[in-house]
Order: sequence, then C-alpha cells, then structure tokens
Amino acid sequence: MLSALSYNPNMDVQQLTKAFAIQDKLSFRDVGNGFIIIAIDSELCTASMALQGAHVMTWQPKGEAPVLWLSPDAKLEKGKSIRGGIPICWPWFGDHATESTFTAHGFARTADWELVSTSELAGGEIEVVMRLLDTQTEQWKYDTPVAIKVTFGRSLHIELTTTNQSDVPIQLSEALHTYFHVQDVRKIEVQGLDSIEYLDKLDAYQRKSQQGVVCFEQEVDRIYINQSSDIIIQDKVLNRNIHISKQGSQSSIVWNPWLDKCKAMGDLGADDAFLNMVCVESGNAADNTVSLAAGETHCLSVTYSVT
Ligand code: BG6
Repeated sequence: MLSALSYNPNMDVQQLTKAFAIQDKLSFRDVGNGFIIIAIDSELCTASMALQGAHVMTWQPKGEAPVLWLSPDAKLEKGKSIRGGIPICWPWFGDHATESTFTAHGFARTADWELVSTSELAGGEIEVVMRLLDTQTEQWKYDTPVAIKVTFGRSLHIELTTTNQSDVPIQLSEALHTYFHVQDVRKIEVQGLDSIEYLDKLDAYQRKSQQGVVCFEQEVDRIYINQSSDIIIQDKVLNRNIHISKQGSQSSIVWNPWLDKCKAMGDLGADDAFLNMVCVESGNAADNTVSLAAGETHCLSVTYSVT
C-alpha cells in the first residue's frame, strides 16, 4: 500500500495504522509517552524503526541472528538518541567543525521525521520513506530537506538524500552510524580497509595508514578517508560475513568503545556489552565533507547483507 497521506507528528498509533499499516507485515506501537515505532514482520525479515530520528533499530533476516546491535539499555525517549541500530549523523558528523557546544553528530537523529509512505515491493521487501523538511534550527540556518528510503528485505538498503534549497553552498558531513551485532568483537576482522589512510581520534586525529585487516584488542575510533569500496565484517564465531556496499560515501568510521568507555556511557548495557558490538559507519566526514552548491542534491546509499 502506498499512502497518499503524510505523517503528521501529532498522529497517534491508531491514525498511523489507518494511513500506513500493511496487513500482517507493518504495524505501529507506542512504547511509552508517544514514542512510536514501526514494527516489520515479513517473509524476508523482522525489523523495527523509530519515527524519531528515522532510526532503524533492528533488522534480522529470517533464519539469521540479528545483524544490528541494539543496546539493552537504549533509551526510547523523545529528544534522546538511541544507542544502537542506525542513528543518522546529519548534517555534520562528530563534533561540529567550529562550534563546540553544538550537538555531536548533528540534530537529525533526535528530530521528528515525517512518515511519507510505506509499501510492499514485488519481491516482498517493505519500503519506508521518511523526510525531514524543516531543517533550519539555531545550529543550522540552511533549508536543506533530507529524505530517507529504507528497504527491508533479506538485505537492508538505505538511501539518504539531501537537497540544498538554500541560495548558498553548504558543507555537509554525515554518516549512517551502524551498530552491528557480533558474537565477540575480539574474534572478528574488518576487511576492505588495507592501505587506507585514517584519522585516529584516540591519538589526536593523527593520520595513519591501515595495514591489513582491522582487529580489536582495545578501544578503536577511526575515520577512514577516501574509502568507497566494500567492507566485510567477518565474524568467526557466528561463522558469517556481513557485507557493506555503498555509494556516495567516501568515508568509513570504525568504533568500539571497549571497557572503560562502555562503563562510562551509561546506555551501552552491562560492562562487557562492548564485546557484542562494532560500529562500521558509512558516510562523508573530515576530508570528505561534501560541498553542495545551491540547488544540488547528494545521495548516500548503503546496502547491508549477510552470507
Ligand atoms: C563514533 C565516534 O562515530 O560515535 C565516537 O567516532 C563516538 O567518537 C561514537 O564516541 C558515539 O557517539 P555518540 O554521540 O552516539 O555517543
């Protein structure tokens, strides 16, 4: 079903259901205080997505272990970002380039997005389209609507499209800050980054060059730049590979907080929760910030799949 209606942030579960539900496959639930989640259960996968932040929270192809990691202590509250799943970092990644008091990773991940349409595709995938129209805030003075199209199937495909409707060029940095579920981060390899230059956030953003695969024996926080090819997360315990294939993305960010930060963060779960997750984020950051002239559109798209 393709709905002609657009989501109004004041719609409740009943109204959303009437306008956008897909029988037996896409439903809505309020997890408390008006925090509404889309729940998907199709022949191909189960998944969930919060309307706030257009935040994909879970995705599990049928017969597979969960691919995304969602913290057991994730806070589902208005104005708070959700720990896990796929937060959208937009219109800047990390700290703002000049204003240290501005929200880290931008404001999109905690904003109210509008639901535009839900539909079932010929192959059984469920497609959800959302958009953020009113982007002018105290921290971002530009009219730059952004839309997300998420296709939930045996693979997960996401397109994040930004249009610069203002009359000046803008500098955009962004990322799909994807948290992956792994059985033991000490027993995974991230492949596809060999010889790629990265900025090491844990060493004053020094520039280094990756040698071989990325392994995890301590905290890792790196922005790999000028990197557009596929990445594979090889999980030797679950005996599976997670593939990340992307377009319109020149950077990948690899992050695991390890024990001390995990304890300090407060919403990551038990002290050893960091062992079950790794972030491999696809975006455009640091040297790869996108210059978007007035009237131009930019699309970041990523496909996740498992073998
Ligand atoms: C990563 C950054 O992308 O996000 C890390 O490289 C940061 O430095 C992490 O700690 C989590 O950020 P936040 O704002 O969601 O706690």
